[in-house]
This record gives sequence, structure tokens and C-alpha cells, in this order.
Amino acid sequence: MFKRIAYVSRAVEGLGDASIYDIIRTAHNRNGASGLTGALLVMDGHFIQVLEGDGYRVRECFRAIQADRRHTDVDLRHEEVTRSLLFPDEWMVLRHGSEIPAELKVAFGYQPGLPRGQFPGAHLVGFVLACCRHGTALQTA
Ligand SMILES: Cc1cc2nc3c(=O)[nH]c(=O)nc-3n(C[C@H](O)[C@H](O)[C@H](O)COP(=O)(O)O)c2cc1C
Repeated sequence: MFKRIAYVSRAVEGLGDASIYDIIRTAHNRNGASGLTGALLVMDGHFIQVLEGDGYRVRECFRAIQADRRHTDVDLRHEEVTRSLLFPDEWMVLRHGSEIPAELKVAFGYQPGLPRGQFPGAHLVGFVLACCRHGTALQTA
């Protein structure tokens, strides 16, 4: 069994592309070592991340993420135990808001920051998955 979590956070003011690539580099290295997978969206000054894998490893990684000063207001929206991984082949997919087509945002009722009321956990995970499937080989999966 695996654990899957999803959260939304606010990137600190002025966080540039170099910092985002640092985050992804760290995520690839560390997730690769601990068998974690997932996806990270960077949209309108917010991060939306799905992280999945061994329960203990997910909790441990999320603790480090919560303490990371490159973002604030880390809001855990979703937690589930599951038999299957949504991103089995990806240590951490990265998508920027500019890569996400407007139709997909409209279809999901996207609003910046994905407010809690309109974006309960399962909807959030569905949105991240749809954003990552768009325009990649995963589309046919
Ligand atoms: C938005 C965001 C997402 C992150 N995602 C991951 C991740 O998937 N895996 C990971 O190991 N670190 C991730 N990090 C980095 C961790 O916060 C942390 O810097 C890193 O794991 C090193 O932790 P340590 O300094 O406690 O050893 C992320 C950081 C941010 C800001």
C-alpha cells in the first residue's frame, strides 16, 4: 500500500525559475533515492504538489517541505492510502501555469490559489493529473 498527499502553498515573493529548478533537482535526487513520485504545478504564485509512495517516506518528506522557506501557507488538502500510483514513472513532474491550456483550467473551475472551498482534495488531485497528462505521452495512458 502507498500513501498519497496533495497540498497547496504560496511561493515566496520573487521566487525565480532558478529556485524552482533547484527544488526540482532536489526532488529528483531525493525522491529517486526514497522511491517517492508525484507532480508539482507552479501557477499564479502557488505550488500545488501531489506526493506519493511509502507512507513513512511521504510523511518524512512532507515534514521537510513544510519547513522549507521558499514557500508559506502550506495547506494539506488530501491524504489517502492507495494501492496504485498516479505517477509511477516520475520522481517529480514539473508543470508551469503557462503550459496549462485555458480549456483545462475552465473545465476544472480553476482559480488562483485553488481556494479550499472550491477545490476539495480529490478535485485537486484530478486537476494535477489532468495538467500533467496534457501534451505528454501519459495522455494515452
Ligand atoms: C514546493 C516544494 C516542493 C518540494 N518537493 C520536494 C520533493 O518532492 N522531494 C524532496 O525531497 N524535497 C522537496 N522539496 C525540498 C524540501 O523542502 C527540502 O528542501 C529537501 O527535501 C531537503 O530537506 P532537508 O534540508 O531537511 O534535508 C520541495 C520544496 C518545495 C518548496
